[in-house]
Amino acid sequence: MTSTQADEFNPTVYLNGDWGPLSEARIPVLDRGFIFGDGIYEVVPLYAQAGGARLPFRLAQHLARLNRSLGKIRIENPFDDAGWRALIQRAIDANAGEGDAIVYIQVTRGVAKKRGHAFPAGIAPTVFVMQSPLVLPSDASRAQGAVAVTAEDKRWLHCDIKSTSLLGNVLMAQHAAEHDALETIQLRDGLLTEGSSSNVWIVAGGTLLGAPRGPRILEGIRYGLIEELAAEAGIAFEERDITEAELRAADEIMISSATKEVMPITTLDGKPVGSGRPGPVYAALYDAYQRAKAREFASQASRAG
Ligand code: PDD
Repeated sequence: MTSTQADEFNPTVYLNGDWGPLSEARIPVLDRGFIFGDGIYEVVPLYAQAGGARLPFRLAQHLARLNRSLGKIRIENPFDDAGWRALIQRAIDANAGEGDAIVYIQVTRGVAKKRGHAFPAGIAPTVFVMQSPLVLPSDASRAQGAVAVTAEDKRWLHCDIKSTSLLGNVLMAQHAAEHDALETIQLRDGLLTEGSSSNVWIVAGGTLLGAPRGPRILEGIRYGLIEELAAEAGIAFEERDITEAELRAADEIMISSATKEVMPITTLDGKPVGSGRPGPVYAALYDAYQRAKAREFASQASRAG
């Protein structure tokens, strides 16, 4: 294979019972995902292990959220957890290679016979599974911390559903890109909600604060994880409303997501956050995150072995 071919992104993907190259996967235009954004998705991180295998991190929690998202939009889950695990494993096996990855799962309501907003009767969900490379933030970018900008949160009030209707998030990600920022941190009615594709945490007086779970934010799989990691590291944690003034006065700000793990924000709207350097709470949580991965992979290996 030439290097151009090797660099080409064309994984073997799953679509509605078939496996084949991404470049050949097709859905009908009347798929409800295309016409209405009527679907949900998941992003599960996969970490490369010494022996070459890739292992998912917190898969049980991702599958539970997938099931909750489907339930909230009234699509029957097409697989049980064992079925999903088998599909994900096959996506991993079919795309062996180097480095970390993510598995992207999307389920839409399916293909309608004609366009109409209400749910059509008698259609089966569309299911898509794709592995893609994951490039985690570099050590250099972690040491420096990232830039974020703020914007008003204009999304709907079901942000707890991991919906493919992501126009609000897309516009916020573009806002960040146009400001040379990694992320846009959103505020609704003067309160912190979340990033375009991440949860946001602040540190005030040594306490880690996270915006309340509920319809204004997606509860990241890292939300509960960071609570656990804070407890392990002896860091006080509070889940509560965070005002814009508290955000701007924070000693530390960080974001979390499957693809960023936990990442320090050291510049907000052009001003330094705290000392302008990644802080001690971030450093403790990042270390605890790496230990949690090692623990989970060790226990997966002992179950498999
Ligand atoms: N996004 N909030 C939003 C709006 C998100 O899109 C995400 C993740 C999170 C963090 O969730 P988790 O910890 O489960 O990754 C919070 C994924 C990575 C994405 O859309 O690609």
